[in-house]
Amino acid sequence: MRSDPLANAAVPVPEEPSAPGGLPRHVAIIMDGNGRWANRRGLPRTLGHRKGIEAVRRVVRHAGERRIEVLTLFAFSRENWNRPKAEVNELMSLLRRFIRSDLEDLIANNVQIQVIGGRDDIDKDIVGLIEEAEARTRLNDGLRLVLAFNYGGRDELARAARKLAFAVAAGQIAPEAVNEDTLAAYLDTAALPDPDLVIRTSGEQRISNFLLWQSAYAEYAFPATLWPDFGAAHLDEALADYATRQRRFGAVPVTIAKP
Ligand code: FPP
Repeated sequence: MRSDPLANAAVPVPEEPSAPGGLPRHVAIIMDGNGRWANRRGLPRTLGHRKGIEAVRRVVRHAGERRIEVLTLFAFSRENWNRPKAEVNELMSLLRRFIRSDLEDLIANNVQIQVIGGRDDIDKDIVGLIEEAEARTRLNDGLRLVLAFNYGGRDELARAARKLAFAVAAGQIAPEAVNEDTLAAYLDTAALPDPDLVIRTSGEQRISNFLLWQSAYAEYAFPATLWPDFGAAHLDEALADYATRQRRFGAVPVTIAKP
């Protein structure tokens, strides 16, 4: 009798199914709505982004207090280069100013900073600031703050595939050894757990090329609040809603044994 070739095939299960009630290890946020916040007040869009920095500070502080391990913020996408030059310049300057003005505070609060995304096409002085922020916070073991800057999920995957192809061509990895883990090891997020909860503010319900690989099993929240208005209470609301979700990762529901 021929054996069923699929009978013992290893089906990858990313995580164990979990009962509701937990706290996400990794929260990732698409900070949307800065432009609308400004438009509604008759202000230039750039002021919406500046106001957005205050929300960044509130959420970083609160995520730390709530003992979230990793907070990823989508600060500038590769597609954002298509915005008017003045707005692009403002978004670049905001990262500069944020690192210059907040780095000491973040260090004092034991925050570790990591920036994901391509670095080739951003100004050298910004790359220098990013490297300084990463180096000076490398040993901190509090909240890991990940800024996605000049980031696109497809670009990250293409960069990872290119590095992997070089490693295969150099004979460091056998082609048949390439699997999900090998590819994931070349992503910008290699050292991070996958996001458990992805929040997009402003009511839009799109993923916009954000953490495409990593969010395969994430839970989603789409609060209507515009990013500059977002704060501790909104984050708590998303965490409370997350705690009601049962995560199955494609497996069967967890049943909680009655005593
Ligand atoms: C989307 O709102 C937001 C962005 C493209 C940029 C987000 C950036 C910040 C909050 C500030 C920078 C942060 C750091 C940490 C340096 P939108 O402009 O698309 O809003 P709209 O959809 O209402 O037009």
